[in-house]
Amino acid sequence: MKHLLGVGDLTDGEIGSVLEGAKRMHRLQDERIKKLPDLKGRTVVNLFFEDSTRTRSSFEIAAKWLSADAINMSARGSSVSKGESLRDTLLTLDAMGVDAIVMRHPGSGTVVQAANWVRASMVNAGDGTHEHPTQALLDAHAMLRHFEARGLGDLSGKCVAITGDLLHSRVVRSNVLLLGRLGAKVVLVAPPTLLPPGVATWGAELAGDLDEVIADVDVAMMLRVQRERMQHGYFPSEREYIEAFGLTVARLAKLKPTAAIAHPGPMNRGLEISSAAADDPRSIVLDQVSAGVAVRMSVLHHLLAG
Ligand code: NCD
Repeated sequence: MKHLLGVGDLTDGEIGSVLEGAKRMHRLQDERIKKLPDLKGRTVVNLFFEDSTRTRSSFEIAAKWLSADAINMSARGSSVSKGESLRDTLLTLDAMGVDAIVMRHPGSGTVVQAANWVRASMVNAGDGTHEHPTQALLDAHAMLRHFEARGLGDLSGKCVAITGDLLHSRVVRSNVLLLGRLGAKVVLVAPPTLLPPGVATWGAELAGDLDEVIADVDVAMMLRVQRERMQHGYFPSEREYIEAFGLTVARLAKLKPTAAIAHPGPMNRGLEISSAAADDPRSIVLDQVSAGVAVRMSVLHHLLAG
């Protein structure tokens, strides 16, 4: 494995070994000294052209816990703001001899393109509405931990409903690809205006509102309404959106006691997810955050220490 550009490029063996590795890396979170020597002397650059809290800091922590040197760069404060092209920026970093570049960019496909320009390993940390492979891997890792802790086995045969702004989401694309490979049934729930073109060919089922599926799901994954990517009204009002698609207090009561509530963050509390749902004992939202460090450690390990 040279790059991690999308779930679509991973073999079953690679998916299995990244998730196995994440289990091993996760144990480090209980240690007082969180340091493995595996990537000593290697350099990882985080190059972010879009805002991020979780993804960027967890990649940085992952690199540091593996003893790599980690550097953070954002478009603001780099020569991109002086008009330098993306290619020149990447070639400049590459010329310094960095080993991996973790990149987030608003353009779909930009990270795949960047991988053709550099010698370093490229990791896609979210490119436009295309893919966000480490998010899907960490979601799977967090779900597996949820089911394993309850003696409910793995993801095979489990029903995962992904609800919300699917049109602007790279998380949904990566998750549909990965969950299908792991044997889960995926149901996509969104208003017609927020369904991506071609969604019918993805191999997932579709539902018109959350009430159709809520009682049957093993995981209710809620996605953020991405207001910053919306130019016009995609639904009549927030109240109507919540009525059909929000994980409200009323819907919480219908959710199975063993189900998990997931959200990649950042959450719009009171819109796609009620505060009661975000803080419910079934919520794995913060477990997804810890899973993010473990999975990103495993990914960097596969790319740089393999
Ligand atoms: C997601 C992203 O940036 O694609 N967040 C994340 O990485 N945790 C989802 C979002 O922005 O809503």
